[in-house]
Amino acid sequence: MSLPRPRFHLAPAQNWMNDPNGLVFADDRWHAFFQFNPEGNDWGNMSWGHASSPDLLHWDEHPVALRHRPGEQIFSGSIVSGDDGTLTAFYTSAYDRGIQAQSRATSVDGGFTWTMDAANPVLDRTSSDFRDPKVVRVPGGGWLMLAVEAVERRVVFYASDDLTAWRETGSFGPLGPEGVVWECPDLVRLPVEGTTERAWVLLLSTNPVGDDADPEGSAMHYVVGDLDDGVFRSPAVDLRPLDHGRDCYAGVTFDSAPGGAAVMLAWMGNWRYAHVVPTSPWRGAMSLPRTLGLRRIDGVLHLVQHPVLPPPGAVETGAVVIEPHAVLDVRWDPGATGTVRLRLEGEADAAVDVVHDPVARTLSVSRSGRAADVLHPDFAGIRSAPLVGPTSGAVTLVLDGPLLEVFSDDGATVLSHLVTLGAGPVTIAASAETDVVPSVRVGAVRVGATGDPAQEGPAAPAAA
Ligand code: FRU
Repeated sequence: MSLPRPRFHLAPAQNWMNDPNGLVFADDRWHAFFQFNPEGNDWGNMSWGHASSPDLLHWDEHPVALRHRPGEQIFSGSIVSGDDGTLTAFYTSAYDRGIQAQSRATSVDGGFTWTMDAANPVLDRTSSDFRDPKVVRVPGGGWLMLAVEAVERRVVFYASDDLTAWRETGSFGPLGPEGVVWECPDLVRLPVEGTTERAWVLLLSTNPVGDDADPEGSAMHYVVGDLDDGVFRSPAVDLRPLDHGRDCYAGVTFDSAPGGAAVMLAWMGNWRYAHVVPTSPWRGAMSLPRTLGLRRIDGVLHLVQHPVLPPPGAVETGAVVIEPHAVLDVRWDPGATGTVRLRLEGEADAAVDVVHDPVARTLSVSRSGRAADVLHPDFAGIRSAPLVGPTSGAVTLVLDGPLLEVFSDDGATVLSHLVTLGAGPVTIAASAETDVVPSVRVGAVRVGATGDPAQEGPAAPAAA
């Protein structure tokens, strides 16, 4: 079985892709760089691929931006845009001799060509697990670089006034589960809905390691806290899941997004089985871009995610048959319907069930069937997320070939999964505990080939 290509998510035309890198809004375009193998569709020869988009839904792929060299792979990192338009990239040089250190490159043509710094690596702790630099502008001036000491489960912080000289300011961690490495940190200052408040949030990805590694695999988390003397601090004693699905990893935000919005892209993959996902000649895709914010619910700040969506379509009720590229807006009367179940079945022998249970207060997504079983022994199964806040009676499902993202509670509960429904039409059956059938509004997505001017435009991401 080969899974179909997504149409409105970023995926390379060919070869392997993992983490988003160097996300930056420059010259009126959204630039996404990404971990890329220029020579095949397995992980290796890591380099930075490059794509750009006018609207975050139509992507044009460009030539490889930063290419691996003998003895050195180019691992994850970030880009910041300077006041004069110069783009500065920070990335991890992963040397064959076992050292990971941070290097720098600059571009004066909007990200298309790059000059690596002769002084590279510019930050070296002679560590074998020091990676994923994310540079952010700090209020009041200057820059902060976050990177991980992955095995120690620590985020290390460096401050700079000129993007050249870096001074270590401290570290955050460890906390949360052991037996994982920490990867791809980001630090965002998010608005609290309905207030003029803002709070700092650390984004973090964790990947289980070792012989008895957790079969659930890799996942993204967040921590709410404060920025104090160049270091993130938080009274939190645990990491909170950012996305309750199996396939959301390494998410980071765009530098210089209009209005200061925190727009995140994540890799829709899981290191547990990413290498066997049956797609060709490409492998790997990004999530929909999501604008991040905070909502105070029962006195606690929760991360909320609002996807950038293609425009909606017609309203239907009950069972519908759709092309596997659609936005489904499912609504019901929370007082009358009880548990709501949506079953997705495609031409492959596989099913996906999305179940909203107002009594258990859970939203779950399960993958089942032979096509799911054969992909990997740990692929099939169920994931349940706690519902937060009052029951809204609305869930948005975004299906784009093998990618399914489920948003509920107005962005407070999110589950992202790869699915194996196949390339043909998908049947959606909505049912409820009572005979009040939920309404399903299907937005058949018309976003097609990248760069096609005839396609409908999406809504712009909400400014923070
Ligand atoms: C996360 C990660 C990063 C690393 C990159 C290598 O998925 O392991 O820590 O920089 O992928 O491709």
